[in-house]
Amino acid sequence: MSNGQVARLPRLDPGEVRVAPSILSADFGRLADDIASVSSTTDWLHVDVMDGHFVPNVTIGPPVVASLRRHTKLFLDCHLMMTDPGDFLGAFSAAGADSATVHVEVGDTEALCAEMRGLGLGVGLVVNPETPIDSAWPYLDAIDLLLVMSVHPGFGGQAFMPQTVAKVAAARSEIDGRRLGVTIQVDGGISVKTAPAMAAAGARCFVAGSAVFHTPDHGQAVREIEAAAAAAVAR
Ligand code: DX5
Ligand code: ZN
Repeated sequence: MSNGQVARLPRLDPGEVRVAPSILSADFGRLADDIASVSSTTDWLHVDVMDGHFVPNVTIGPPVVASLRRHTKLFLDCHLMMTDPGDFLGAFSAAGADSATVHVEVGDTEALCAEMRGLGLGVGLVVNPETPIDSAWPYLDAIDLLLVMSVHPGFGGQAFMPQTVAKVAAARSEIDGRRLGVTIQVDGGISVKTAPAMAAAGARCFVAGSAVFHTPDHGQAVREIEAAAAAAVAR
């Protein structure tokens, strides 16, 4: 395990789990308040960036990340659903992003990972539901975070795809077999109901949008998802 790799993400002890609330489901008119509502229960925020091309939706970009940076010390994990993420890595880094995650489907992965590393960003790679998980294997040495999508990217509030659990298990086995420190993150339809299967399969970071921000008590939702996942790891 390379300490250089894990230091780029919030520290997780072996078996420890973390919920990363996705601000996509927050109220964009009061983002700072919504972020404050989870900041005592997690150190990790997930920021969904959509370009209207790689996915059929448009969300936020570097100016919003710069504004968030002025309001929070939480780790800002930027999930770049973009056809050309390389055009914006420098801008996200300058805006205060802590990590960036690029889709393996857009190609040029080796160069993108090297650029993220050079900018001092945590290096994430994400695999869509229909993309074979072994497409990530050539890059595992170069990344800190492997994101396994459990919905088709583009929108919050979609139903969890149970067939993605096996991809997490395959990733866990490959990462452990190669003794790497890559953190497995899952994203899409994650809740107290779905997190346990993903945790048991080897996921350690749980992105949750609607299951956190579409509830009356955001902090309690984070704690409940984390507890459900942690119990499944320990089992
Ligand atoms: C989907 C995004 C997710 C989204 C998850 O494209 O990558 O991060 O916010 O939302 P929920 O948790 O509601 O499925
Ligand atoms: Zn996401």
